[in-house]
Amino acid sequence: MPTFKVFRFNPDKDALPYFQEYKIPESKKMTVLEGLYYILENLDPTLAFRSSCRMGVCGSCAMHINGQYGLACETQIATLGDTITIRPLSHLKVIRDMVVDLDPFFAQYEAIKPYLVPKETPGPREFAQTPKERARIDFLVDCILCASCYGSCPVVGTDQRYFGPHALLKALRFVEDSRDGDTYNRLAFVATDNGVFRCHTIFNCQQVCPKDLDPTGAIGKLKMKSILAKLTGKLKKTG
Ligand code: SF4
Ligand code: F3S
Ligand code: FES
Repeated sequence: MPTFKVFRFNPDKDALPYFQEYKIPESKKMTVLEGLYYILENLDPTLAFRSSCRMGVCGSCAMHINGQYGLACETQIATLGDTITIRPLSHLKVIRDMVVDLDPFFAQYEAIKPYLVPKETPGPREFAQTPKERARIDFLVDCILCASCYGSCPVVGTDQRYFGPHALLKALRFVEDSRDGDTYNRLAFVATDNGVFRCHTIFNCQQVCPKDLDPTGAIGKLKMKSILAKLTGKLKKTG
């Protein structure tokens, strides 16, 4: 019977956070999210956490589980030992228990303009891509904005002005898109002290990504592209 040691904090009534333990029945195929639902439905209806799809698609159940960031719905209890310690994502204000305020995370995402800026005025035709052009953004479009990388990055933890691995990975997604016409403005925006040059290549973001994406590599690519653009005179402003 595994023990869930769960972070609890309700800012409206608790002076400090604390851990609460719950025993849940053994189930070989149970995920951490199912364990949390067992607690909610059978032991403690006050427990707060987020989830939606329960299948690794929506990104809402990311948390810190036995020392690692990841999705509760994709983490099997059987892989974790007898005690499972669960905390909310780091670097974000706790609203209650595992529910954190994601506003700063999404503000940084919005800042990189996460939408296509077409090269031409949109008309009645599609902006087609060849399979080769699409392949350049294949892995980059898979980000589910779960914030595991954000929680794991020590640079985000020390200065939230840093754009963060999620936003920079998405910036590369649009820089690499053959249909986008804003490449050099995008590179100028990220080639700043709070952008790509703030990353210390710590690799935590790459290690924790539940979609096996490589934000570290994406940031490295943005660094190279922005330096090249600067050297060739294509980058007008570097902040
Ligand atoms: Fe989550 Fe990975 Fe996207 Fe970061 S890059 S938000 S860890 S899916
Ligand atoms: Fe942070 Fe990832 Fe860079 S962990 S410092 S964004 S390589
Ligand atoms: Fe959607 Fe876990 S509930 S990713």
